[in-house]
Amino acid sequence: MLDHYAKRIEKLRFSSSLMSMRRIRELRANGIKVHDFGSKFDTPTHIKAAAARYMNSPQGSLYADPRGIPEFRAAVQRKLLRENGLAVDPDTEITATPGGKAGIVATLLALVDSGDEVILEDPGWLSFEPMIRITGATPVPVPLHESNGFRLDAADIRKAITPRTKVIVLCSPHNPTGAVLSRAELEAIAGVAIEHDLHVVMDEAYEHFLYDGHAHVSMATIEGMRARTITVQTASKTYNMFGWRVGWVIAPAEISERIRMISSHMFTCVTSFAQAGAAAALDGDHVQGTLTLPEMMKNYQIQRNALVEGLRAIPGVTCVMPAGAYFAFPRISGFGRSSQDFAALLLDRARVNGLPGSVFGQRGEGHIRFVFNAPLPEIEEGVAHLQECLRAL
Ligand SMILES: Cc1ncc(COP(=O)(O)O)c(C=O)c1O
Repeated sequence: MLDHYAKRIEKLRFSSSLMSMRRIRELRANGIKVHDFGSKFDTPTHIKAAAARYMNSPQGSLYADPRGIPEFRAAVQRKLLRENGLAVDPDTEITATPGGKAGIVATLLALVDSGDEVILEDPGWLSFEPMIRITGATPVPVPLHESNGFRLDAADIRKAITPRTKVIVLCSPHNPTGAVLSRAELEAIAGVAIEHDLHVVMDEAYEHFLYDGHAHVSMATIEGMRARTITVQTASKTYNMFGWRVGWVIAPAEISERIRMISSHMFTCVTSFAQAGAAAALDGDHVQGTLTLPEMMKNYQIQRNALVEGLRAIPGVTCVMPAGAYFAFPRISGFGRSSQDFAALLLDRARVNGLPGSVFGQRGEGHIRFVFNAPLPEIEEGVAHLQECLRAL
């Protein structure tokens, strides 16, 4: 039997969030009601209509420009100027990718070799570490401290730097903790990146999900950072376009060229009509049904409050208030079980789905991640189940 595989991916496991979605689908198919607080909203109709128009046009069945169709890159250019304060050249600095995920992998493949080190946050989004391993580079986790609201401290990055460090991967608003990096914090991190001549990959998937007046700042707008920052954004979250697979990478021309070279051999282009839909999303006023972004964010803040206040009311649970994204990351270590066991127990007894904190890194242990991407009544019902189950423990 053949059993020689790539060593690079020996430690790789399937994405826990995708596995958990599969498990929930199976439970539901068997008639079991499960609360997952996630992804219940539909893509707005004007976005679907734009995609359908493009699909039915003469270009609808052709390979698209590997950089992204011109309409899409023009819409991204307008969006970056309007929302992020970034002026970019759509011909040389914007690349469409099949979701932010593929954008981050293509970026890392363009920047690092095996043996290089890439700094990432712990806890951090569960795909960063596997993505780094896919490139053959070594992930180097930097701790986030709960006592500090899980905000990344530039001093901790400095301690992790070695002569092999090439890239810092950032995510703000943060998955799984909801932390949002301020301009001052980004400036401090930028200082370290400039001093050690590092690239920064900034994942801005949740850039619009902000609460209590917090603002999103793109690292590329920090002085001295434009030439060393790769910004990754996506249509998935804001417009409920998860399965459409449209994201975009903004990078200096020399890096964009390399990302495009890699993507031209991996996936040729992003589905053309999905890009047309994303262009309509970026140019449009509505993000969820007929709701505008500020209206949707008001709802998310209410959803967040219902989840976090409901969790905090459970004896033994503490929870940092997330400033952004749509995740709560409560501490559940007081229950004396591993986060894996705790998540299994919740699914079994309360029919509530949360991801064990350990899948987000060593320092995620003792926590569980809940999503609040669902209408308020669903969150309230799920929280009531949680409270009942945990009070009985
Ligand atoms: C932090 C973070 N970045 C990027 C992504 C990727 O989103 P997509 O590939 O759908 O654009 C996700 C979603 O899973 C995420 O949570």
